[in-house]
Amino acid sequence: MKRSKLWTAITGAILMTTLASSSTIAKPGITKSSFGKTPDGAEAELYKLTNKNGVEAAISTYGGAVVSLKVPDRHGTLEDIVLGYDSVDGYVSDKAYFGALIGRYGNRIGHAQFSLDHKRYMLAKNNGANSLHGGIKGFNKAIWTAKEVPAKDGQALELTYLSKDGEEGFPGNLHVRVVYTLTDSNELKIDYSATTDKKTVVNLTNHAYFNLLGVGQGMGDILGHVLTVEADKFTPVDSGLIPTGELRDVSGTPFDFRKPTAIGARIDANEEQIKLGGGYDHNFALRRKMGDPISLAARAVEPASGRIMEVWTTEPGVQFYTSNFLDGSVHGKGGAAYAKHAAFCLETQHFPDSPNQSKFPSTVLNPGGRYHTTTIYKFSTQNPKYKEVKILKPTNQ
Ligand code: GLA
Repeated sequence: MKRSKLWTAITGAILMTTLASSSTIAKPGITKSSFGKTPDGAEAELYKLTNKNGVEAAISTYGGAVVSLKVPDRHGTLEDIVLGYDSVDGYVSDKAYFGALIGRYGNRIGHAQFSLDHKRYMLAKNNGANSLHGGIKGFNKAIWTAKEVPAKDGQALELTYLSKDGEEGFPGNLHVRVVYTLTDSNELKIDYSATTDKKTVVNLTNHAYFNLLGVGQGMGDILGHVLTVEADKFTPVDSGLIPTGELRDVSGTPFDFRKPTAIGARIDANEEQIKLGGGYDHNFALRRKMGDPISLAARAVEPASGRIMEVWTTEPGVQFYTSNFLDGSVHGKGGAAYAKHAAFCLETQHFPDSPNQSKFPSTVLNPGGRYHTTTIYKFSTQNPKYKEVKILKPTNQ
């Protein structure tokens, strides 16, 4: 081949490759489609947010759930990394809270009751004797009103919901606003705010189940993910997973994630708290730097794909849950069976049972006040040539 012809062939091939790869990256923006109807005829919608890197977050108006989240591995391959269902039907019957917004009170309230100003409020018992994640019909089972809103550095979707006075036993009409922003720096930012017309308690979170290997048929477990949690203390629980009130030092326990440690290293440890949780299902009290508006809470690295997720939050706690209640009987997206330890959750929050624990940071919201918290899930990848994580060997702690 002559030099000029060879050159044409080479440049043509380069152009083809460039076109092929750029055409696989979706355009930044927001699209909306139907996600199906609930049994009572309500229409659920699915909003797909895409950033300039092709990262994509799909959010359902039913439960405000993050239905899928596609982020790149170290080679740039986008894969969905959250558990969920293909249509609204799965979310209607769901008991695992996949990807959903959780409220009015995320996590447990002991004996499903609490007092405010000497008045006792009785809640629905939906977890043994306790109330879990807002009750029988929590915010995860509500249809939220969606609106696209402008964002400086990405795509944003606002979801609003009015939780009526007395809903699931909680006092006060609570106006809730959640804004999901998918930034061009590959962050999924969640801003939660709320106001009330009567003194009440509020603790909002998101219940995404992550597996940075990617989810789908034949997916692996999360035991090889390497986790760091910025916490010196955690809140031990009783057999109903209600905090005892103690703030226990993590050192010398399977809860010490101050140095990067494989999730699976101590998950079967012969230790009382691990046994009570059937794995990790505990709130960590986050170390906060004075004056920092938002702090790093946790960092998960998946060594095979190189995917890294950091969790930043304004909240004082995070519930680390290793999907101990999944047993393969739930089939999610594409029919994939979700087994025990198929994913992990990092639910940023105030501590469980705070309404009954005077020593925990308060979850009370007064009329005239405004609840506002922010959590950011930030995605990046490991450099293949640089082994930055240290996997500790399992110990018998
Ligand atoms: C939270 C709880 C767990 C479990 C899951 C949902 O993480 O702490 O005990 O209820 O939600 O299955």
